[in-house]
Amino acid sequence: MSFHTIIEPFRIKVVEPIRMTDRAEREALLGAAGYNPFLLKAEDVIIDLLTDSGTGAMSAEQWAGMMRGDESYAGARSYYRFFDAVHDIFGFSHVLPVHQGRAAERILFSTVCHPGDVVPNNTHFDTTRANVEHVGAKAVDLPIPQGRQPASTHPFKGNMDVDALRVLIAEVGRDKVPLVMLTVTNNSGGGQPVSMENVKAVSAVCKEHGLPLFIDACRFAENCWFIREREKGYADRPVIEIARELFSYADGATMSAKKDGLVNIGGFLATNDPALAKQEATLLILTEGFPTYGGLAGRDLEAIAVGLREVLDHDYLRYRITSTAYLGKHLTKIGYPIVQPPGGHAIYVDAAGLLPGVPPQEYPGQALVCELYVAGGLRAVEIGSVMFGSTDPRTGREMPASMELVRLAIPRRVYTQSHIDYVIEVMAQVYERRERLKGLRIVWQSPPLRHFTARFEPIAKAAS
Ligand code: F0G
Repeated sequence: MSFHTIIEPFRIKVVEPIRMTDRAEREALLGAAGYNPFLLKAEDVIIDLLTDSGTGAMSAEQWAGMMRGDESYAGARSYYRFFDAVHDIFGFSHVLPVHQGRAAERILFSTVCHPGDVVPNNTHFDTTRANVEHVGAKAVDLPIPQGRQPASTHPFKGNMDVDALRVLIAEVGRDKVPLVMLTVTNNSGGGQPVSMENVKAVSAVCKEHGLPLFIDACRFAENCWFIREREKGYADRPVIEIARELFSYADGATMSAKKDGLVNIGGFLATNDPALAKQEATLLILTEGFPTYGGLAGRDLEAIAVGLREVLDHDYLRYRITSTAYLGKHLTKIGYPIVQPPGGHAIYVDAAGLLPGVPPQEYPGQALVCELYVAGGLRAVEIGSVMFGSTDPRTGREMPASMELVRLAIPRRVYTQSHIDYVIEVMAQVYERRERLKGLRIVWQSPPLRHFTARFEPIAKAAS
């Protein structure tokens, strides 16, 4: 490419207005929402970086696919188009549609796990962990040590610690490990990629012990782009080939198509094991739907079939990864401590590093999230002690999470560079005022997933 400017590789045909608000209005709205941005109305948000999940914009081809949707209950044409796309890219022989990623997780773990089992993963996403634990098994995270160091610039911080995997299998015994999982990219670890070398190494350990390897494939295209950019031997390979190679080392996958499927709802559960597929289909019929629609409409299956191909387009992926890095680069320049290097779908700010005066018990991440909203109408999510803090069963005291992060997740094909420039400007202003930010206390909560509904009050306000 001969120009430096990387443009959004699409034109805009349908627009959705953004309602502008001012600071005073936002202060009132946030107060009414109990200082929890999850409880805001979306139309009161100017730039919504809460999640990249299901928030993307579909293409003209996907909308055309929606019209072609075959809504037959069984054996619809749309299922076969969906199956062909998944089979072509992922290679698996059995593919069950589900309404989103966690449905695939629930069906998989209720089928293969037993109480007392152990499931290793580079890092479980929270719904993955919850579904493993729901069936009485234990979810164990085995990232490489660099994966836990925000400042480390290791190119594949999403990798699993292969030696730790061997030790774990030896300790608990292979019969207690129903499967091994790899999450690509590693969302909870900062949207960091897993290298092909690591996938191969993990797969080799699995084969040695006769264990199936499953991939949590939510952001597979972003992961494969990073492999192309950063791993020796892949620079000239089309991303679709890299994806085919990656999945060839696995026995199955769970997928939330709300991410790299470029759709607003949908997902799948795939495997090469016909006996497992039969068991899974039985459960699918019970709670999701007949195996050729699995809780989705035919039109949703069409949109996924198209989205899975569009997401592998090199111009799209170059723009996607560059625009996330652009936000990361500017926030770093301002002085924000962020998880380095920038991930695929999001930037993670280290709120503890930014706000050393706000202790974990006063939720520095939540303090930053609130200030971003009041300052500029930005919505981000706290990934720290509000989300992951736990209560010490002996003392009843709250134990903080290992990190206090704030995630700015970028929806796919939704915001332009000037939107991101606005985010940067707001955050530059917040950075200047960082020493004045105050912590919060929880006034109402409902564990275990308290972050969705908890209500807070600012500590300074309560004291006055
Ligand atoms: N696995 C990973 C790595 C995820 O990031 C998610 C969802 C899921 C599984 C579950 O998929 O939402 O379709 O049921 N992540 C969203 C997020 C919610 O905001 O990161 P789902």
